[in-house]
Amino acid sequence: MNKIIVAIDGFSSCGKSTIAKALAKYAGYTYVDTGAMYRAIALYMLRKHITDTPEIVAALPKIQVGFVLTDGAQHVTLNGEDVESQIRTLEVGNRASEISTIKEVRAFLVAQQQVMGEQKGIVMDGRDIGTVVFPKAELKLFLTATPEVRAQRRFDELVEKGEKPDFKAVLEDVNARDYRDTHRAESPLRQAEDAIVVDNSNLTREQQMEVIYDLFDRHQ
Ligand code: DC
Repeated sequence: MNKIIVAIDGFSSCGKSTIAKALAKYAGYTYVDTGAMYRAIALYMLRKHITDTPEIVAALPKIQVGFVLTDGAQHVTLNGEDVESQIRTLEVGNRASEISTIKEVRAFLVAQQQVMGEQKGIVMDGRDIGTVVFPKAELKLFLTATPEVRAQRRFDELVEKGEKPDFKAVLEDVNARDYRDTHRAESPLRQAEDAIVVDNSNLTREQQMEVIYDLFDRHQ
């Protein structure tokens, strides 16, 4: 069977990574979480207190972002250090959304992502995968759900991690991030013309995966 590239884009907290991981397992493909790559760069900048764009750009050559498999799960690394748990905070997520507006940061990561897809057999999720990274991907999915549903999911995730989030603040954060991701000048989040939209607001995980596995089987 021919290997393909699956590009999954969509708003934050749409369950992109859960879906992408499940699909990669189903297909026997490699999964790449590009949001984690932006988050790793954001973490580097937060740790070094770098906030100016020219300084951010100047620091890029000192940064190596990679992935390791730990207990069967993919973890992102920053200059060799496993930073998977440190990048999953609201602070890093917001900083990632900000630094992802910088053209040079995007070019730096997009080039690496394109190399990862050279052999195909990859499921990549992010904001610009079907539009910029792999405009010729054989299967493009655009995931969406209402802001309230997504805020509830993020709220539950934070509670599970032992944090005490405020629902209103989480919803405001979801809306602010949507605005930034869709209005930035560089590669804003948008649906590729040939992407298939999956609104999972009212779908169970099982229903949604059934739809997605079926789409994958038909695109191979
Ligand atoms: O998917 P995520 O929440 O982990 O992504 C964090 C931020 O990174 C998100 O707000 C926008 C940015 N991002 C991006 O601009 N392009 C991508 N391909 C992936 C993420």
